[in-house]
Amino acid sequence: MSKSRDEVTVDFDHHRSPRLLDLSLAYSALRGRCPVAWSKSHGGFWIVTRYDDVDRVLKDYRYFTSTDGPTIPGVHLVKGIPADIDPPDHTKYRRALNPLLTREAVQEKMEPRIGYWTTVFVDRVIETGECDLMADLAVAVPAAVTLEWLGWENREEWWPVGAAWHDLLGRRREDPRFQQAIEFIERFDLRLAEELERRRVEPRGDPMSAIVALEIEGRPITREEALSITRLLINAGLDTTTIAIGYALVHLHYFLGDRERLGVADRELWETATDEFLRRYSPVRAFARTCVEEIELDGCPIRPGERVLASVDSANQDEDVFSNPLGVQLDRSPNRHLAFGSGIHRCIGLHLARAEFMGVLRAVLERMPDYRLVEDELVEYPRQSETGGWFRAPATFTPGRRLLPESADSLVMRAVVA
Ligand code: HEM
Repeated sequence: MSKSRDEVTVDFDHHRSPRLLDLSLAYSALRGRCPVAWSKSHGGFWIVTRYDDVDRVLKDYRYFTSTDGPTIPGVHLVKGIPADIDPPDHTKYRRALNPLLTREAVQEKMEPRIGYWTTVFVDRVIETGECDLMADLAVAVPAAVTLEWLGWENREEWWPVGAAWHDLLGRRREDPRFQQAIEFIERFDLRLAEELERRRVEPRGDPMSAIVALEIEGRPITREEALSITRLLINAGLDTTTIAIGYALVHLHYFLGDRERLGVADRELWETATDEFLRRYSPVRAFARTCVEEIELDGCPIRPGERVLASVDSANQDEDVFSNPLGVQLDRSPNRHLAFGSGIHRCIGLHLARAEFMGVLRAVLERMPDYRLVEDELVEYPRQSETGGWFRAPATFTPGRRLLPESADSLVMRAVVA
């Protein structure tokens, strides 16, 4: 028999949880007692917490559309292609974009740059014996790698971009810096449009040139589509990777046995460990969809037009799927985590994200093997909703020597994450 809405109504608002752990505990309580629940917040929405249901919501676009955006409530930014569209259109774009970020493309073209930028940013702090692992490494490396890869030449523009996405994902919506980040990103769009236009006129062999030259089912891509795709690659690729790196660095402060094991690990263990960190500490905590055709989940009738929040965080802790889900088991395999989503929207950048994650972690363990966090100064993301993690992670370590001459990074400004 179907459950009534009253039976499953809970007092839940993912924007209210002040602490990282609180939200995970709230999801865990729901998963045990009321795995599909209704919240009256933000105009009403469903919360889905069990692995199989989350997988279904993310995968089954015939019932759950992505077209209303990934957050509840929505943020008024323009649509991201291909994240905010469904098949058949989604398939056309995704097919055109897949070649840009294959495992081989990442290994050949991007891993050397990840190595370079990681060395540059570790060099910047290595002689001082102190840094903020978030601003100096976890924000800096993905911003440099992604913007350089796209073909963005002006390095002085990289940091404001990294910091704006850090603010957008982390700060509370009432915080003026959140609003400023939105305004910055809107202005950045104009610059992005300009850069794309230059490449339309004069291609340069970089991914931005490849994007403006794409053909979508035999017709040239429009300017708006190219802008939306490029913006999404930046938006989806920067702070998610930042969060993943930050979580692992904080974990390795508290769990020195894992640090020791990873310090001498081979490639195979690094790969399983990367997925395990992503499972245990999912950077994307939840994704939203809108129901388009009535469907019952765990006895709850979900009706067209209703918003649904699928908690990846919760699915990845589901004890029916993962043994000892709260523990980090570096060699966990298989590991069917949903940190990169599921189905047609599964993350296009996952090979890049994994490579950046491993690149930064390995560099830290090699060059700052005794780093310790300044625990009193650790700051969580002020907003723990769709994403969450560590906003600031100051650390000290035994100073070391630079590997590159000082001139190597003279143009690069330090990321400012106040
Ligand atoms: C650890 C880092 C990352 C995590 C946890 C992550 C997570 C996700 C998730 C959960 C989705 C599915 C969204 C949905 O179902 O609606 C997704 C999609 C996407 N991600 Fe990532 N992502 C990461 C890094 C990246 C990177 C580095 C890039 C590119 C530079 C990227 C680009 C995208 C794009 C374009 C989509 C949309 C794909 C589609 O709709 O077909 N992501 N990501």
